[in-house]
Amino acid sequence: MELKAYDFDKIVNRKGTGSTKWDADPNLFIEDLDYKVDAENILPLWIADMDFEVLPEIKEALIKRAEHGVFGYTEMPDACYDAIINWEARRHNFKIKREWLLFTAGAVTAAHIGVQAFCQPGDKVIIQPPVYYPFYRTVSNNGAQLLLNNLIFNENSGKYEIDFEDFERKAKDPRASLFILCSPHNPVGRVWTRGELERLAAICAANHVKIISDELHSDLIMPGFEHLPIASLSETSLNNTVTIIAPSKTFNIAGIQATVNIIPDAEMRQKFENALMRSSLMRLNLFAIEAMQAAYTHGDKWLDELINYIKGNYDFLVKYMAEKLPKVKVMPLEGTYLAWLDFRAFKLNNYDLQKKMLVDAKLWLDEGYVFGESASGFERVALACPRSYIKEAVDRMAKAFN
Ligand SMILES: Cc1ncc(COP(=O)(O)O)c(C=O)c1O
Repeated sequence: MELKAYDFDKIVNRKGTGSTKWDADPNLFIEDLDYKVDAENILPLWIADMDFEVLPEIKEALIKRAEHGVFGYTEMPDACYDAIINWEARRHNFKIKREWLLFTAGAVTAAHIGVQAFCQPGDKVIIQPPVYYPFYRTVSNNGAQLLLNNLIFNENSGKYEIDFEDFERKAKDPRASLFILCSPHNPVGRVWTRGELERLAAICAANHVKIISDELHSDLIMPGFEHLPIASLSETSLNNTVTIIAPSKTFNIAGIQATVNIIPDAEMRQKFENALMRSSLMRLNLFAIEAMQAAYTHGDKWLDELINYIKGNYDFLVKYMAEKLPKVKVMPLEGTYLAWLDFRAFKLNNYDLQKKMLVDAKLWLDEGYVFGESASGFERVALACPRSYIKEAVDRMAKAFN
């Protein structure tokens, strides 16, 4: 048996750390609640945030830097650039160049900057619901309009597929200038295939639609699947895409805020940089640099073990749900650490399902409907936590719904 170096079963108490997941009060945080939630005793498996202790080398790098005691303006060192470039080559066979990189404190910030850079007021941006909900406001906050290319849910396989005819129709809209791809897809857990990505890239190129590919979950791929950066598929795609990557989801350092934007085309990069400069968003926090460098330099083994643990959590969830609450279907998971559960058999409306979950089950999940109308009746569960939390969550659901 392979020796495991990291203990993902370990419980780390996060309460009192200002954690959004554990310390935010659902009564205040969730909009329009007209009932009271027992905030003290709720189990939070909503936001995409892990409950594991960080890779030890990240912690050590931060402590070492903190001990220096002087924290002035800081340049990105060569070693950090090398760590990013080598990580993408090693993990995803994506050969990137240092001069292609621009940095932001977050991926949502990057997507906002992308819309500002590539859209004129009134331009249209394609997204694929059900999808990571901040994409909606990324478009609307920046004077652009949404074009919704809804994914098609295959009721037999539980798998979501792309509606290419609709996508092409939308891309042909003369005002369509940008497509925000979520790859792998949050919340439905798809890892897009080469065929799917090539078809999307070709339609975009043929219709002068630029691509922002949010690849935040690209390191979190389940065994048997492979993430392909859409930009890496052809020269045309390379020069039509901003690829957003980060150690934030992979290593659970979202609070440290380091995001990498890979922009090979010089003109696109200049536009993106101009948009960054308009808000003077040109520097990363020095601790973000330290953490990112440590993660991308030392994180391979930790990540491999993490993926196995998440797969174990997913398999456990499938089995235990089948035993305790068989009316709920757990959708296939190809990538991300987000399980997607189908509660439609209970025929509850959005309000009643959410209330049952929050009040009766004392479980805080992300409601399907926030990702798009078509996802009513679904729930998203963040699986990156000790397995005992998943067991507790299923027990609570079973008690509330049976
Ligand atoms: C697909 C996707 N993009 C972006 C983000 C948020 O990234 P950031 O916190 O860096 O803005 C998330 C967080 O869950 C996500 O799932």
